[in-house]
Amino acid sequence: MGIKAYLLFLFIVPGGSVASLAEDAAPLVAAGARVAAVHCARCHVVDEVNVFGGISSTPSFPLLVKALADWEDRFQSFHTRPPHPAVIRFAGEVSAPDKPVSIAPVELNYSDIEAIVAYARSLNKRDQ
Ligand code: HEC
Repeated sequence: MGIKAYLLFLFIVPGGSVASLAEDAAPLVAAGARVAAVHCARCHVVDEVNVFGGISSTPSFPLLVKALADWEDRFQSFHTRPPHPAVIRFAGEVSAPDKPVSIAPVELNYSDIEAIVAYARSLNKRDQ
């Protein structure tokens, strides 16, 4: 059973303990943390990896997940929300000609979104 199916199984089967969910989500969270450190930390404070980094006007990930009730929707669809469409490319996509060429693109796979959401969820659970 793939990790997705297994996670779904844990969500829908009553009694799937939070501890086992956390354990099984760990690789996905780690993958999300890597993607965030490489691709998002350029503009966002994502976590301890760059507390003093990012661009000051850009919201930090811990702030986003704690302050916004709909943070999960926003992380699921961040690539469609400005300013990201100008920066994010998915592997295999051709650059849109209307995008500024002066910005080095962030290249992601669709599976990275799931990892990023899992990572953001882990930030939400952490105490500040
Ligand atoms: C080029 C700089 C830049 C990069 C790289 C970047 N972001 Fe952002 N992001 C922003 C800015 C600026 C905002 C605030 C936009 C606003 O408030 O209008 C933002 C906002 C967000 C939001 C909140 C969106 C909303 O509509 O509330 C999420 C979620 C997000 N970013 C996720 C990510 C993730 C995940 C990555 C890495 C894969 C990433 N960002 C990479 C600049 C960036």
